[in-house]
Amino acid sequence: MDYPIDISVKPEVTGFFDPQTHTISYVVKDPASNSCAIVDSVMDIDYAAGRITYEHADELIKFVEDNGLKLEWLIETHVHADHLSAAPYIQEKLGGKIGVGEHIVTVQNVFGKIFNEGTEFQRDGSQFDALFKDGDTYEIGSLKVFAMHTPGHTPACMVHVIGDAAFVGDTLFMPDGGSARADFPGGDAATLYDSIMKVLALPDETRLFMCHDYGPNGREIAWETTVGEERKHNIHVGEGKTKEDFVKFRTERDATLAMPNLIIPSLQVNMRAGEIPTDDDGNPMLKVPVNGL
Ligand SMILES: [Fe+2]
Repeated sequence: MDYPIDISVKPEVTGFFDPQTHTISYVVKDPASNSCAIVDSVMDIDYAAGRITYEHADELIKFVEDNGLKLEWLIETHVHADHLSAAPYIQEKLGGKIGVGEHIVTVQNVFGKIFNEGTEFQRDGSQFDALFKDGDTYEIGSLKVFAMHTPGHTPACMVHVIGDAAFVGDTLFMPDGGSARADFPGGDAATLYDSIMKVLALPDETRLFMCHDYGPNGREIAWETTVGEERKHNIHVGEGKTKEDFVKFRTERDATLAMPNLIIPSLQVNMRAGEIPTDDDGNPMLKVPVNGL
């Protein structure tokens, strides 16, 4: 298979685990310059208190500053339903462009309705600095990246392949974690399977970096594996599992899952590229649509 970038270049990848949401944020550095990108940052929220803070984002900012890096991109692999993005907060401090998949428009339309957003809520992705199409390439310094559309978990999911490292978002979990749910609006198990196969068509030695890890069966939190490991050992799609097996299993499992704790604040913030919505007086305010989800 031909890829539009050199997938042998090895970026320096540093993961930052957020224990509240089990999210891993990444700083990805060009080995040939000081340029870097942040993938899937997290803003802290105490939802019961309606309080937002920035400990996790400040840790990322400190790392970038301490290492003298230049932030070029803030990448969202998708509109997360379990944590809030800190991209605008980090952008204000460090610059960089916020990028997401072009199918954000679908997500904005669906949730714009559910949250009864008015006409001032643009559903054209214009809150983001860049909207990626399947196969689009961009640069982090001299490092070439390509974005792969990988719908199924959500319509706007993308996997970013940065040299030999792929940031899989919620397309895959670690081999013993399997895969993410496919039952959110616009999600689809069969589509997710096809997207996973696209990722697993990358060379065996490709490093894969997860967006989440829950440490199944008491193992320590981990976030890095390879295509080869996933192909052999992934409990949902690894060797011997068919698409039919996957769709049946995924659909049955999803029917048993509760909504993520932070889905209501997460969607409202993340579909706005991480900006907190405001009420008519300009005060930051979140809604709860009753029986809307
Ligand atoms: Fe997700």
